[in-house]
Amino acid sequence: MDYKQQVAQTISDVLDGQLTVDDVYAKIEVPKETKMGDYAFPAFALAKTMHKAPQMIAQELVEKIDQDGYEKVEPAGPYINFFLDKKAFGSNVIKTVLSEKEQYGQNEDGKGGQVPIDMSSPNIAKPISMGHLRSTVIGNSLSLIMNKNGYKSVKINHLGDWGTQFGKLITAYKLWGSEEEVKADPINKLLEYYVRFHQEDQEKPELDDIARDWFKKLEDGDEEATELWKWFRSESLKSFKQIYDKLGITFDSYKGEAFYNDKMDEVVSMLEDRNLLKESRGAQVVDLEKYNLNPALIKKTDGATLYITRDLAAAIYRYRTYDFVQSLYVVGAEQINHFKQLKAVLKEMGFDWSDDIHHVPFGLITLNGKKLSTRSGRVVLLDEVLDDAIKLAQTQIDEKNPDLKNADKVAHQVGVGAVIFHDLKNERTNSFDFNLEEVVRFEGETGPYVQYTRARAESILRKAGDASIDSADNVISDPQAWETLKALESFPNVIKKAAAQYEPSVIAKFALHLAKSFNKYYANSKILADDSEKNARLALVQSVSVVLKEALRLLGVEAPEEM
Ligand code: ARG
Repeated sequence: MDYKQQVAQTISDVLDGQLTVDDVYAKIEVPKETKMGDYAFPAFALAKTMHKAPQMIAQELVEKIDQDGYEKVEPAGPYINFFLDKKAFGSNVIKTVLSEKEQYGQNEDGKGGQVPIDMSSPNIAKPISMGHLRSTVIGNSLSLIMNKNGYKSVKINHLGDWGTQFGKLITAYKLWGSEEEVKADPINKLLEYYVRFHQEDQEKPELDDIARDWFKKLEDGDEEATELWKWFRSESLKSFKQIYDKLGITFDSYKGEAFYNDKMDEVVSMLEDRNLLKESRGAQVVDLEKYNLNPALIKKTDGATLYITRDLAAAIYRYRTYDFVQSLYVVGAEQINHFKQLKAVLKEMGFDWSDDIHHVPFGLITLNGKKLSTRSGRVVLLDEVLDDAIKLAQTQIDEKNPDLKNADKVAHQVGVGAVIFHDLKNERTNSFDFNLEEVVRFEGETGPYVQYTRARAESILRKAGDASIDSADNVISDPQAWETLKALESFPNVIKKAAAQYEPSVIAKFALHLAKSFNKYYANSKILADDSEKNARLALVQSVSVVLKEALRLLGVEAPEEM
């Protein structure tokens, strides 16, 4: 039951068609304070057409309004304030949540349309850094959110497995590396070679020429170069997968840049056929002046293709493969221009579906105020951060609940969940600083706080014994429960909003709000007292548990039963 919709209907019923229900709906506000009601309609929206003062309009309309189903409807200056019938509202919400369980809030807006999500996409032969965390967890959460809205997401890891860095890596490996070393500790050794290359080429610029030659060999299919590339790729992927396992994140496709090697000729000839390629200092470019963008560089003087050439091939491939309704790219804000160019070139090629491509940018993570970079070797290994977070969770659990069963598993869920939640509670375009102690706290605006609240709800239910809870006719007269009931009722709309804005933080903020309002209620009421509303209170606790768990799931965070 959408109460805002009900209010819109009530108003439009007394308007003689001056505004449609949808118009009214769009104008309805939610007052800041509950004493002003649950919804308010600003009557000045009608002042022009009715030629009357808004105060008067509010008065007159209230007289005509059918108050049945509301606690009261009253004029307040230029507003009409609606107070919902709290008892019916509460009993309705609880009934809906408990009968739909984890399906609560599911909608079919997406009508099964496919949505490829380009996410994580680290570069081979370098470790995943904190910088890649954001794309991974935002992408994963968006996939869950889109599915909850009736879409079918396809999680694509567009691996950076091609490019001049492989020439550098092969050069470094041949100069300083050994097979045994790499086998023993692949990802760190590969990084070491890469970093050393960048240190030494400062003094020995000839290294760059050797690297260029090796990359050329790789592009020409040279056997040794190809074998090394394959080996580096598979070793890197193994270590990436360990991290993804830790995060509990899977992919539907690992087709990275190299996959498009044989698909770029077609792109280039399509561009030629449409007369879009221009020569500029020996290179082939697409002019994008009318979009106010720099020309897109498609082919270099030596014939080498570029990042955007691959992305053009990938976009077309995805369109053909998935017939997508939306195609998302969860990639840092520093690539905003790249995606503008990508869309513009596709548009010039006559592909209307370029409008369905959305870059979902995000800000930087700094670590105690410092920027992270692979070239300098100042990386923060995501793997280590996760392990530290798990350890910190373990310490806190040992303190709070030393007898906890499965403490290891719970520490993992809490530590990893804390890192993910911290990332997602920030609006994605904001940059933020990462400080482990703050992230893993059990109080404040953290993942563990939400998990703890949900586990507490479960523990109340356990204490209540297995008396089965009746989901119907649950009237709660305690006004302290109102905020929690309203939060529960808003969940389906929160889910829609998160998808419309590609914004997991909408879900994270909702989870924090629900947890806070529930804790307040919990602190002020005797849930297990034996009176006529006991079943209703337990039903509310159960509803909160169901919805908090589902909200966490949409973020990719697990909810331990006990902690
Ligand atoms: N590998 C790139 C990086 O780490 C991100 C790739 C994003 N996806 C894409 N289709 N361009 O910066």
